[in-house]
Amino acid sequence: MDNQIFINNKINNFNKKIIVSSDKSISIRAVLLASQAVGISKISNLLESEDVLNALRAIKKLGIKYKKNKKTYSIYGFGLNSFIIRKGTVINAGNSGTLARLILGLLIKSHKVVSLIGDKSLSKRDFSRVIKPLELFGAKIKSKNESLPIKILGTNFLRPICYKERIGSAQVKSCLILGALNTPGVTIINSKKSRNHTELMLKYLKYPIKIKKNKNFDEISVKGLHQFNAFSYDIPGDISSAAFFIVLTLLSKKSKIVIENVNVNPTRFGIVTILNKMGAGIKVRKKKFYKGEQIGDIHVRSKKYLKSVICPSKYNSSAIDEFLIIFLVAARAKGISKFKDLGEMNKKESKRLDLAVKFLKLIGIRVERYKNDIKIHGNPDLNLSDNFEMKNFLKDHRIFFLSCITALTMGGSWKINDKDSINTSFPTFLNSLKKLGAKINWKKENLLQ
Ligand code: S3P
Repeated sequence: MDNQIFINNKINNFNKKIIVSSDKSISIRAVLLASQAVGISKISNLLESEDVLNALRAIKKLGIKYKKNKKTYSIYGFGLNSFIIRKGTVINAGNSGTLARLILGLLIKSHKVVSLIGDKSLSKRDFSRVIKPLELFGAKIKSKNESLPIKILGTNFLRPICYKERIGSAQVKSCLILGALNTPGVTIINSKKSRNHTELMLKYLKYPIKIKKNKNFDEISVKGLHQFNAFSYDIPGDISSAAFFIVLTLLSKKSKIVIENVNVNPTRFGIVTILNKMGAGIKVRKKKFYKGEQIGDIHVRSKKYLKSVICPSKYNSSAIDEFLIIFLVAARAKGISKFKDLGEMNKKESKRLDLAVKFLKLIGIRVERYKNDIKIHGNPDLNLSDNFEMKNFLKDHRIFFLSCITALTMGGSWKINDKDSINTSFPTFLNSLKKLGAKINWKKENLLQ
């Protein structure tokens, strides 16, 4: 019962500077790469969410120690192939597809069987996309219909592969790059464009990795068995978390926000590009480079008029986690927005494309769906006054965030279940909303501000 919230009021106008939670993709990669480095890596502002804590628990099970002192985690690495693997080791990736898929890449040399499990949502997700190429390296993998639970047994006789990654999945690409670290020779991955944090981090670590950029694909060559030194890293804010505050501001009245120190890597910047095509006027200021990544402050103001967008699928990968909230902007925009080839949305923590259509219809928006394409008929006058209850969304954190932003910008009386899902990526989400003045009730009658 305590795991639900109630929102009955739109948010009043605000003008604030905030920071959002640290980047989840970079946090998980920093933990995993520190576990392979030689020496003590120091990671500050690591996202302390369940997905990242599960990454720390996973490396600990594999014999890697870590300590936390104030805001910094020290991770004690002994180099490539230094995991201590005990018989019967079970790694629980919880809700995290990123952790589950990336860590498999680090286990292809394991001399004992390691089991990988996850929560209900993760256990429904497809792992054939990593099982197939990892078997080509020589690893032996048993799974339940190519999903979790998975058992992996590595080999000392790994062979480099040449693989075409056609989904545009950074998880698959990164899994294979991590597999290549322990494999002799040069592994080549021809990967459809996707977020490139793993490549940037390895480049910063002076690892022998080469990237040849073609129009739609990157050719990534990784030379295996090269030890690299421990590093320090200060994790910036997550644009996928900032996304909800960007849209909250855009769709509220007379409000302004500055979201400081956010990772604005172009492979993650799709949300801003798409919203700016809709007339959002979002700006990035104080832009700087940090260890290969780009960081800046995101400035947003409320917009009375937003126009529809015909979104080319070339933006899909750089906005893949943000379409849910982009659709909400399309629901308020003038005209019909079109999005296509979004089948990957249904392979996330929940079937997000299906749920998005259901959600938009629930709030009275006309949606047409043809396979993985959707058309959203925007309504600039959209204003809700009914009662809404959000449940059965597989505890998907981003559906929870979407529901809160909808309630705070469109109105209505909302009961939203599975509050705990925020712990996956953005544990301080509700506190940040409260700081902007949102009225969120933990119990029906008890109003906390
Ligand atoms: C992620 C990649 C994306 C994204 C996920 C995080 C990553 O998944 O949806 O939230 O950190 O590599 P895919 O690689 O499956 O597209």
